[in-house]
Amino acid sequence: MAKIARVSRKPLLGKGPAPRIDSAFSRAVLRWFDVYGRHDLPWQRNRDPYRIWVSEIMLQQTQVTTVIPYYERFLSRFPDLKTLARARIDSVLAIWTGLGYYARARNLHQAARVIEKRFHGVFPDRLEDVMDLPGVGRSTAGAVLSFSKHQRHPILDGNVRRVLARCFAIPDDVTTQRGQQPLWDIAEGLLPVKGSRVAAFNQAMMDLGATLCTRRNPACTRCPLRTRCQAQALGEPERYPVKKRRRERPTKETRLLILRTPDGHVLLCRRPARGVWGGLWGFPECESNRDPEQAIREIFGVNARWRRGLPSVEHGFSHFTLRMKPEVLTVSGPAADKMQERDRRWVDPGSIGRLGMAAPTKVLLDQLDKESNGQ
Ligand code: ADE
Repeated sequence: MAKIARVSRKPLLGKGPAPRIDSAFSRAVLRWFDVYGRHDLPWQRNRDPYRIWVSEIMLQQTQVTTVIPYYERFLSRFPDLKTLARARIDSVLAIWTGLGYYARARNLHQAARVIEKRFHGVFPDRLEDVMDLPGVGRSTAGAVLSFSKHQRHPILDGNVRRVLARCFAIPDDVTTQRGQQPLWDIAEGLLPVKGSRVAAFNQAMMDLGATLCTRRNPACTRCPLRTRCQAQALGEPERYPVKKRRRERPTKETRLLILRTPDGHVLLCRRPARGVWGGLWGFPECESNRDPEQAIREIFGVNARWRRGLPSVEHGFSHFTLRMKPEVLTVSGPAADKMQERDRRWVDPGSIGRLGMAAPTKVLLDQLDKESNGQ
């Protein structure tokens, strides 16, 4: 059979012109880092690529303080690559509950299996191989290999992009490929020549972006780059990075069907793997204008009785806001038995056990549990 070429949307390497080397820049950043940088984060305890990779995936869209307790729990449950690769996706998603962007957990799990199979359980050490793993882009691959193996690769996450876009007053929209290529070239040219300092430099650039060169009110007076920062010289650091105006996020509406049995159990269904909250457990849903009793008859083939509505809950995704209107209905015990299926579970809201679910689902279950206990 013909081999099908893998198509990747990840940026290609080595496309730009030869980077300009600037060692005074990295010296200034490293001097600052030695005094003010973050040196005792849990993933900095050793150079195990597995631990560092997990941390970088968690940190992709989430702040350090939120990540730390999830990271500790994840590593005590899945201390090494083999344990993660052999785990069931449900137990991975359960640990991820509340952290958001659940595709990260699915990709992490999938990538652990790829490493087991393709690399015999040894974390790859070629940039291209790491970038080929699900959920890993050029910046994450560069971070993992510079931190764990002291390889000389630049990173360009949101924080670093902001520092460089300001320092070099980049006029292009840095979220586009056209705006990013010059930044990759600059980032590469700024790396310290000595490989052993690249890890510190990459961490320092992230720390600068997270602690001084913030999106609003950057602390320019304390910045080690203030004398060379072009945005600061222009007197308007907040104008950078330039981003084209975003359209308003649309709001989508849905109705949550909270089905309860006479003894207080609640129905959760596993969501399809693709789409919002893929693979997580949640309440069944119907269109916001549909009659809930009729929807339940059509979906499950049983009669339910509507009891009450709960206040709407909103959740923001990157491209839209989801407004959920919960409706509580009851079904009889025999009807509940008739509805049993593989991807459906009747759960006690007070003891859900190990099921991965999105934060709003957990909040609603906690609310139902408190009500049952008369709180
Ligand atoms: N964000 C992404 N990677 C990070 C790291 N290693 N430390 C702090 N913040 C980060």
